[in-house]
Amino acid sequence: MPYNSQFFVFEGIDGSGKTTVSRLVSEALLTKSIPNLWHREPTDSVYGKKIREFLQGKLKLTKEEQIETFIADREYSVNEIILPTLKGGKSIIQDRYYFSTAAYQGRDEEHAAEILYKNEDKGFPEPNRVYFLDLSPEESADRRKSRGGREEVFDEDSEQERIYQNYLAILPESTIFVDATAELEEVVAFCVEDILKSLET
Ligand code: TMP
Repeated sequence: MPYNSQFFVFEGIDGSGKTTVSRLVSEALLTKSIPNLWHREPTDSVYGKKIREFLQGKLKLTKEEQIETFIADREYSVNEIILPTLKGGKSIIQDRYYFSTAAYQGRDEEHAAEILYKNEDKGFPEPNRVYFLDLSPEESADRRKSRGGREEVFDEDSEQERIYQNYLAILPESTIFVDATAELEEVVAFCVEDILKSLET
């Protein structure tokens, strides 16, 4: 069965496990000889580095500056990594995309929708499938507390609640909601199976 290259995106609030899940999905696909690249945003570009400083509270950015910086990083991500990889015949398994900018930088649901349109207007490619690792803001708070580590700018519980509501408002109808509290192996197996189905179409 010939496989084409497709673009798969994983989204979720902090602590939802999307980095772990997406990495394991990418590895599982490789063991099944499905060529793919695991990729994340923010990237390691100059814009991505600026974003990491902002996330750690070392640099102040207004909401508008945050949006511009994430979009600049995404232009790099799309032009230097996503499009060349897809053209080269490999699928992309990606941790965060423009839905994150809408959810995190959106002051409210209306603003989140505006940010989404702004990204779509840039002509960034639409993913074939979006997986939302669904975790309640309360569960996210418990996981983040038990995980410890460095505080980041969106760590407040009220911030995670706003981000979660924004996600629900802007995610495409076709988004696949995955219970992030299920066993890790089950979550990974479910996503792998769904990706294989998508690649066969
Ligand atoms: P991470 O938790 O996946 O490492 O992502 C880094 C942080 O950046 C996370 O708190 C979400 C945030 N973020 C935004 O605020 N806007 C964006 O567009 C992206 C991609 C991430």
